Amino acid sequence: LANGLGNTPPMGWNSWNHFHCIINETVIRETADALVSTGLSKLGYHYVNIDDCWAELNRDAEGNLVPRKSTFPSGMKALADYVHSKGLKLGIYSDAGYLTCSKTMPGSLGYEQKDADAFAAWGIDYLKYDNCNNGGSRPTVRYPVMTRALMNAGRPIFFSLCEWGDLHPALWGFRIGNSWRTTNDINDSWESMVSRADENEVYADYARPGGWNDPDMLEVGNGGMTKGEYIVHFSLWAISKAPLLIGCDVRNITGETMEILSNEEVIAINQDPLGVQAKKVRMEGNQEIWAGPLSGYRTAVLLLNRGEEDSEPITANWDDLGIPPDTLVEARDVWKHETMKQYLKNELTTTVGPHACKLFILTPVMPAQ
Ligand code: DGJ
Repeated sequence: LANGLGNTPPMGWNSWNHFHCIINETVIRETADALVSTGLSKLGYHYVNIDDCWAELNRDAEGNLVPRKSTFPSGMKALADYVHSKGLKLGIYSDAGYLTCSKTMPGSLGYEQKDADAFAAWGIDYLKYDNCNNGGSRPTVRYPVMTRALMNAGRPIFFSLCEWGDLHPALWGFRIGNSWRTTNDINDSWESMVSRADENEVYADYARPGGWNDPDMLEVGNGGMTKGEYIVHFSLWAISKAPLLIGCDVRNITGETMEILSNEEVIAINQDPLGVQAKKVRMEGNQEIWAGPLSGYRTAVLLLNRGEEDSEPITANWDDLGIPPDTLVEARDVWKHETMKQYLKNELTTTVGPHACKLFILTPVMPAQ
């Protein structure tokens, strides 16, 4: 969507994966504080996004959405002011239907302009727009109404389409949104995570600055996967140019989770100005190579072992990566933070543990003139 937003994939936090419906303004404020105190905000995690369950079940007499009095008593304008005072941005959630998925609050269908105006007046910076309880009409009819309402509201608001990939939103999302979900909901398990990455990969050609494929939010730090699996999760999301929306409790974040989410070299792959999503370029048994171009003629390459038991040597060939034959390449392992001493020619071979990956940036070495 040409609203000037999302030139690189959005980064931030969202309440759903960890808190589900159990949210309140204190959790949101403390999360904003924690994004700053941990240093995550400095690394680009700017959006603080409230998901489902923030409003009263009924609109007021004028038809306005009402923040739930028991959990958001200060209202959304005060919360946005607080989040903005920390140098962060506030996101909110609604639904292109009569009720949201939790059925605890109304959706925006039929109230698009009223709600968009309220979001703009409150100072909202990001809208996630879900697809439940919609009466059966097509998303390609319902979603653009909110796009236009947001444009009329006069505040730049990142527009995240949450249609779950059913009607291939990659094919139409770019005209009306800044990102579109390509999958059903993720859960905190290896199978769920890798299958979301697979489903999302199919649409790689449709991602570009201003509009991104969204395989759902991060589970890193929620406890259901090993450290190696979470490194795969973060690496796949990074090279897939997916939104990096943290889904754990940042107020109680562990050192291990911080180490993953704050890897600046991996974040830089995600935020590279070229904005090209990586693809699977080779699959053999448990082994996969994912690769995509970065600015400066560089290439990001991920060597993935999907097997559960053995470490395996995996080889990435220049042919598969789109690097011209015989090009000398400097390889940097962005998880080890180490550049290989030898330049490489035509292939990179490395050993990868079970349910683990390695992620490299390959930079061509230009011969002296
Ligand atoms: C379905 C979405 O896909 C989830 O990410 C979350 O927003 C829930 N709805 C909230 O009910």
